[in-house]
Amino acid sequence: MSVSDIFESMEYGPAPESAADALAWIVDQGGRFGHFIDGAFTAPGAGFDSTNPATGEVLASLTQASQGDVDAAVKAARKAQPKWEKLGGHGRARHIYALARLLQKHARLFAVLEVLDNGKPIREARDIDVPLAQRHFYYHAGMAQLMESELPDAQALGVCGQIIPWNFPLLMLAWKIAPALAMGNTVVLKPAEYTSLTALLFADICRQAGLPKGVVNIVTGDGTVGEMIVGHEDIDKIAFTGSTAVGRRIREATAGSGKALTLELGGKSPYIVFDDADLDSAVEGLVDAIWFNQGQVCCAGSRLLVHEPVADRFYAKLRARMEKLRVGDPLDKSIDVGALVDPVQYKRVSEMVEGNTAGECFVAPGAMPENGCFYPPTLITGLNPADRLMQEEIFGPVLVSTTFRTPSEAVQLANNTRYGLAATVWTENVNLALDIAPKLETGIVWVNGTNMMDAAAGFGGKRESGFGREGGWEGLAGYTKPKTAGKPLKEIEAFSGEGAPEDGIDRTAKLYIGGKQARPDGGYSAPVWGKSGGLLGHVSLANRKDLRNAVEAAHAAKGWSKTTGHLRAQILYYIAENLSARGDEFAARLDAMQGTKTGRREVDAAIDRLFTYAAWADKYDGQVHGVPIRGVALAMKEPVGVIGALCPAEAPLLGLISCMAPAIAMGNRVILSASDPFPLAATDFVQVLETSDVPAGVVNILTGPQADLAEAMARHMDVDAVWSFGAAALSGIVEKGAASNIKRSWVNHGMARDWFGAEGAGRDFLQAATEVKNIWVPYGE
Ligand code: NAI
Repeated sequence: MSVSDIFESMEYGPAPESAADALAWIVDQGGRFGHFIDGAFTAPGAGFDSTNPATGEVLASLTQASQGDVDAAVKAARKAQPKWEKLGGHGRARHIYALARLLQKHARLFAVLEVLDNGKPIREARDIDVPLAQRHFYYHAGMAQLMESELPDAQALGVCGQIIPWNFPLLMLAWKIAPALAMGNTVVLKPAEYTSLTALLFADICRQAGLPKGVVNIVTGDGTVGEMIVGHEDIDKIAFTGSTAVGRRIREATAGSGKALTLELGGKSPYIVFDDADLDSAVEGLVDAIWFNQGQVCCAGSRLLVHEPVADRFYAKLRARMEKLRVGDPLDKSIDVGALVDPVQYKRVSEMVEGNTAGECFVAPGAMPENGCFYPPTLITGLNPADRLMQEEIFGPVLVSTTFRTPSEAVQLANNTRYGLAATVWTENVNLALDIAPKLETGIVWVNGTNMMDAAAGFGGKRESGFGREGGWEGLAGYTKPKTAGKPLKEIEAFSGEGAPEDGIDRTAKLYIGGKQARPDGGYSAPVWGKSGGLLGHVSLANRKDLRNAVEAAHAAKGWSKTTGHLRAQILYYIAENLSARGDEFAARLDAMQGTKTGRREVDAAIDRLFTYAAWADKYDGQVHGVPIRGVALAMKEPVGVIGALCPAEAPLLGLISCMAPAIAMGNRVILSASDPFPLAATDFVQVLETSDVPAGVVNILTGPQADLAEAMARHMDVDAVWSFGAAALSGIVEKGAASNIKRSWVNHGMARDWFGAEGAGRDFLQAATEVKNIWVPYGE
């Protein structure tokens, strides 16, 4: 080929990165790997091969962990944990910093090994995966350093079991290990079976860095090893990234075990292009949205929504760009799209696309390698919102699309999914972008950019994309617990008695649904007796139908979430004022129900609590994260939505208010299930609500056994989060039921809370009542 031919065709020449060092490292280790437990590699055992998906070549042989291996890893982590935590923030920061430095030093080795094992283009591993992994360790070295001064009430959870997927093997490891270590935890991590090599190289780095043994343990194997970790009794927290199906199983398996849990699951993230967008940039953005990492990205912009007036023009530009995408040897520096991770994934993607008969399919016409798991970039236009490929995660380089006419239709389509991870908005109109961003039901919104990630900005979603955040200050909540010791909850029995009411009038308190006092659907009620056996009244017994009505009423009150913090504060003060006016009556009722003399103290504490959340209503602000791009990430605190709360048996008025007030202060609507043994304080409180300008449906109160409502509440698809401060047995029921739509749950696991003290109004209530949405916007030069 002559120089003039080259000028004519402008063909790329090959620019391969050498695999020699990475292959030499594998050979140095003997080509067979054991696990990394207690600071040393175990002898390799029976297992499976790790292959290069681009060539099918075997890279190394890995060991399938046995129960004994998992036990040994957990034991090592448990033994190492107290000393690691006691090392203090600075001591841990030095170690984490050393890991960051070594990751940086061996960046090329990590990048090439990742490419060999995973099939992703070297350009991405070199410029994104490895630098972001380093950044995560640097950032969290800082978090360790600041922990004592900035999070004085937080302590480590203990031993964390971490299970990661194969799409970003090293980066996911960094996202999991760095914050866990920073907060004083030790870890047992299982990489995905297809891609364990960079985790093993990381283990080698831990050894080189002199990390105390047992702090990081890595066991290899498939999902059965994941199950062993999930089921292990001596693990305090499970952090999982992977498919929604497995996430749901893990939620069910850990229900009631007392283990903390965070889940980063799938997505079907919308990519919205408005008619005034810079269309060329939006096309280029799509290359990063869906062809980055062959589309094997949980937050991939996989669902393209284009404004109708520009749709034809945009699709034409997109197809022209697709024609130029280069698919091929992932080690070649000028390749855009590499190989899918494994033949299994190739088959999954192919079958999903072949099974589709809707729309129009365009396949990028560029040259394809003959062998290996290469799948061509694909665009399917003209789909209907309900089509399978518009709803299900393909997790491959396949973009599906439809058009919209108005911004509100774009929002409707964008939110028409069970997922809620990320969304991308392209428009030159700042008003439009910032009008749309709060309406998108996602944890992340990118404006005029896409797939941007940074350690300083929390990553994570809502709905079936999971719960919890990784990165940022909010990510630390997943690796800490409050310092309070906590005592086991004492179960309280209701009093029994017989006879007529003391004042001769037999009242049956109704339920409170949608701003009205409602008779229970079943028509049943139960007596409430005082300590001396006297009849204090009757309460209605709510059933599932009543619960459904309450959820419906709470949904209808969605305007509450859009009110200002100032307005919500005014209403909370007003509730406090009205409660105060009837303070003596409430105090007497509390004393009569509980047989104590603490009623006055409880009423005063409840008024104080209402003031606390009135104060917070307009002060629990978001943050602006400095991220290393030409922009900032606005971490906005949004209400969770509809929260169901099983209120504590003890402190029947204060407990109810301690659940209600933070939730409504942050803009949520609530369904409160009143104290089982002492429900009358809640029903009396209805009258206070009725006179305090609380809009109908914002607060709904149900009475009757919590055990009858807990499961239905947790399983209800339109309830966004459930809190349980009731009997210990309810925790497991709630967590298991919450697996239905992967809703957030916050339960007491049978531990008591001092409702009168600081624990009754901690920041954890505000955190549980909000969802952080990171909105990335261009800013500055
Ligand atoms: P997966 O969810 O099965 O695998 C992720 C990790 O979980 C791996 O380490 C695996 O060994 C482990 N695992 C599997 N079953 C387990 C169990 N029962 N208990 C504990 N751990 C378990 O994902 P898979 O099968 O590799 O991919 C299937 C689909 O999942 C993909 O096509 C994609 O749609 C989605 N996926 C989403 C990811 C994300 O980041 N959101 C990552 C990987 C897959």
